[in-house]
Amino acid sequence: MNNVLRLAIVDPDDSKRDLMKNMLLGMEMIWLEAESSRYEFFGDVVAQTHPEIGLVAIDGDPDKALDLVSRLSETSPDCSVLVTSSSSDGNLILRAMRAGAKEFLTEPVRIEDLLSALGRIGERRLGQGDAKQRGCQVIAVTGSIGGVGCTSLAVNLGCLLAQEEENSVALVDLDLCLGDADVFLDTIPDYTLVDVAQNVSRLDFTLLKRSLTKHASGLYLLPRPVQLEDIGLITAEDLQRVIGLLKATFTHLVLDLSKSYSAIDLIALEMANHILLVTQLDLPCLRNVVRLMMSFGEMEGIVDKIKIVINRVGLESGQITIKKAEETIGKEVFWQLPNDYRTMIEVRNNGVPLCEQFPKAAITQSIATLVEALNSDGKIEAPAIVAKRSGISKLFQMWPSKGG
Ligand SMILES: Nc1ncnc2c1ncn2[C@@H]1O[C@H](COP(=O)(O)OP(=O)(O)OP(=O)(O)O)[C@@H](O)[C@H]1O
Ligand SMILES: [Mg+2]
Repeated sequence: MNNVLRLAIVDPDDSKRDLMKNMLLGMEMIWLEAESSRYEFFGDVVAQTHPEIGLVAIDGDPDKALDLVSRLSETSPDCSVLVTSSSSDGNLILRAMRAGAKEFLTEPVRIEDLLSALGRIGERRLGQGDAKQRGCQVIAVTGSIGGVGCTSLAVNLGCLLAQEEENSVALVDLDLCLGDADVFLDTIPDYTLVDVAQNVSRLDFTLLKRSLTKHASGLYLLPRPVQLEDIGLITAEDLQRVIGLLKATFTHLVLDLSKSYSAIDLIALEMANHILLVTQLDLPCLRNVVRLMMSFGEMEGIVDKIKIVINRVGLESGQITIKKAEETIGKEVFWQLPNDYRTMIEVRNNGVPLCEQFPKAAITQSIATLVEALNSDGKIEAPAIVAKRSGISKLFQMWPSKGG
């Protein structure tokens, strides 16, 4: 419970209070500390339990409730008050804010509005040096060409993150047509992104978690739709809400994007904290990285989040060098993943992640260090991978030139 906001709620209407509690209970960022049905006792409840947030539903008796809000801001200034009401009357909102409310939400409260309000309160507290809320790290994995290794990275990164006890991690397969994250995890899911997207306004967090498939590694998977014709049912707006919900309930989200750079992919890029752009060291891949970086440059807030990941380093002697790749792209390479086709194909075919089947393999260690590097604010740098010489270049090594 290190990164949660503790909340106490008061609402004389039992059924409305239960509804709100259900919404709050599934949120891992929220710990429901106390509840009360009486405005007159709530000041004492807050004084005794010291919640960071006091949620006051004022419709039971607006005058009494707003008196309580004023008292709370005097007696418990560390408690941020969030007011809810079915009225959106400007005067009432003004009174609530003047009484000391930090946020005002109109009932019925939409889950994403509640999340935003809680997020704002959390951020303000962080600004005050309260480091309790850690938030959710969203990692989008995208690629410069088909088959470059995005799903391999997304799945194994997710499983490695999920191994840490303090993490709760979900992987969303956004390759809506042909995604195969379920194959990598050998799962047959009951629900897909379509079910969740279509019910997003009705979902509470317990239901959301139940709709995801939990892999033995601890990783939750939200797979792509089963039927191709269902893809049209998911809008970019739906996805935005789904990601919003997932962000509130998981510590890490890994998004495996398609290579079509559709509106859905773009939402994922916007909502991500880190974008891992996977490429290989050949000309078509690098040319696409350059093109992508130019387009990303036109979009707000994307370029700074991009981290170039070179996959399959050491694949063959004809590969372009890292230095040349960096010059071409005009950006430093963030990470290098070694080539290991046999291991990678085996884990995919067996539907078992690297950390289970090959925990000691160089590729597993490399992804594990990448995970650390993402959290290290640039303190951990990618170790260079020295390509094993093979084929013709190996022969040249065995027979040094006469002059040498
Ligand atoms: N580091 C690696 N070394 C060797 N082979 C790899 C490596 N990473 C991925 N592969 C292999 O490359 C192939 C494509 O990988 P993957 O499916 O992860 O790519 P992708 O970018 O998700 O593809 P798609 O565009 O179809 O979604 C797979 O056969 C996988 O085993
Ligand atoms: Mg893929």
